[in-house]
Amino acid sequence: MEEMRSLCSYFQVISRNHHDNKDTVPWFPRKINELDRFANQILSYGHELDADHPGFTDPVYRTRRKYFADIAYNYRHGQEIPRIEYTKEETATWGSVFRNLTKLYKTHACKEHNNVFPLLIENCGYREDNIPQLQDVSNFLKDCTGFTLRPVAGLLSSRDFLAGLAFRVFHSTQYIRHPSKPLYTPEPDICHELLGHAPLFANPAFAQFSQEIGLASLGAPDEFIEKLATCYWFTVEFGICRQNGKLKAYGAGLLSSFGELKYCLTDQPQLQPFDPAKTAVQKYPITQYQPLYFVSESFEDAKQKLIQFAATINRPFAVRYNPYTQGVEILNSKPQIQTLVREINCDIQILTDALLKLS
Ligand SMILES: [Fe+2]
Repeated sequence: MEEMRSLCSYFQVISRNHHDNKDTVPWFPRKINELDRFANQILSYGHELDADHPGFTDPVYRTRRKYFADIAYNYRHGQEIPRIEYTKEETATWGSVFRNLTKLYKTHACKEHNNVFPLLIENCGYREDNIPQLQDVSNFLKDCTGFTLRPVAGLLSSRDFLAGLAFRVFHSTQYIRHPSKPLYTPEPDICHELLGHAPLFANPAFAQFSQEIGLASLGAPDEFIEKLATCYWFTVEFGICRQNGKLKAYGAGLLSSFGELKYCLTDQPQLQPFDPAKTAVQKYPITQYQPLYFVSESFEDAKQKLIQFAATINRPFAVRYNPYTQGVEILNSKPQIQTLVREINCDIQILTDALLKLS
């Protein structure tokens, strides 16, 4: 490596074992199919439930969870996500979550969520008596913003989970919460993913915001990953925004929790403006309603703030997503940047022509 270092104009070691060496950049996927490597490094497998989990002593539920975990474990990029025949009991659980939450959306959810929800009903089988299939929702999102879903077998590390977002890939669970407590779940489940997350990923500005978090995480040091994961928590999971002077929920953790969705817009919780540098270091509880929420003025505004924050990462290169190759380019040479400038010039030309035609 020393020999290579002396012969190269640019040299960077990228490694999974970055903890051993401070000069090493942590490994990150460069192509979308490299997300397959995360499947076998989940922190806990789907059926390993904690003792206080509502399904802990239910062998039928645990077998079912193993079934879902195995599907995700064996899934590879490019495959169709297996369709699930959900049981009557599972569909009933979904039904009670769906019924309760949809009552609140008109008054409590942001307009982006309300705008897309009828399309999900029309195109993806969102109904009280039907649990939508991940593949159908993934196809729909792909048409809207290029986002896709992939099944995940258990908890991913923050680094791996955020890396998926850089490729507009959202790791989604496919199982449903335990039927004994339909309005409670200690972990994400299909209700959380499909009612909370999916509608927002159909929105271009929100999709871009999420991808920016992902891109900022690639190759970043551990401390910065933690900060980004905290920003993710306070936006994508528990974000509130202001629309026409009123507060509305856009975080998936809120939009998928009947109790917290009501609570978050009362005067009980504390509110602060979203400011990545401050948000990133805020501590938060994970097993109770949030005592504090951060408010964004718009997704566009949140994205701009996040891009500025991302520029403060200690990373010796810039990255850019190439949607044609579904790959991440490391921008570190002049010719590469020149090519990019030419491409952007072409786009500007198209926009200029379009404007001329309009006037
Ligand atoms: Fe979530």
